[in-house]
Amino acid sequence: MAVRRKLIVGNWKMNGSLAALAELDPMAAAAANCCDVDVGICPPFTLVAPAAARAPSLAIGGQDCHAAESGAHTGCVSVPMLKEAGAKIAITGHSERRADQHESNEDVRAKALSALSAGLLTIVCVGESAAQRDADEAVAVVTAQLAGSVPDETQTGELVVAYEPIWAIGTGKVATPADVAEMHTAIRAHLRSRFGAEGEGMRILYGGSVKADNAAELFAVPDVDGALVGGASLTAAQFVPIIEAAASAK
Ligand code: 13P
Repeated sequence: MAVRRKLIVGNWKMNGSLAALAELDPMAAAAANCCDVDVGICPPFTLVAPAAARAPSLAIGGQDCHAAESGAHTGCVSVPMLKEAGAKIAITGHSERRADQHESNEDVRAKALSALSAGLLTIVCVGESAAQRDADEAVAVVTAQLAGSVPDETQTGELVVAYEPIWAIGTGKVATPADVAEMHTAIRAHLRSRFGAEGEGMRILYGGSVKADNAAELFAVPDVDGALVGGASLTAAQFVPIIEAAASAK
């Protein structure tokens, strides 16, 4: 069986400041202590360069990227720009961008391909709404998102899938271990069928109200290879115990 290192990535969303980068110091120390765990932080674009300079042992990343390398796209940031700022990660297809910026699966696939081609660790986010789960459509919705959003070629970067049920994001509601197991098994089957042995090695993160007190239970679920953490990644006090829970997970 493929050995997959745990990966914990914080998504700061539209939060943070230069002063908040002080939180990275204890996070970096925890990451150094937990050598079996990869740790990243994706702050707003304006903080990527200072974060990468301050915490070289953390993988710093962008929360989005444009599919093109440059051009007339006001307000957008390309993968080469992210890399020049020191980014190692790009998040693509977060449900907040799929909703707020009307990003389609095709948009997400193009962004992910750009990031993968440049060698970034590329997180493709998928997840169903509450109504879709209530209608028993969760696995079908996520499978269709994977089919549309994950590029066929993973290129030089590392593809990571983040399962983030929309109803669990920022709500304090966490998917049950049984629901997470069902979904991560389905995602693994999809990756295996498309990428063979490579798909076995791809990491699948859970995201949605991950906190210090529920992390260990989630990390015990088969095919949960780590977490994409929103609110609890903003402070070291909340984020470090999640890193430690990943380090203790079997
Ligand atoms: P919360 O951890 O705040 O629920 O956010 C999850 C998320 O959307 C991470 O990308």
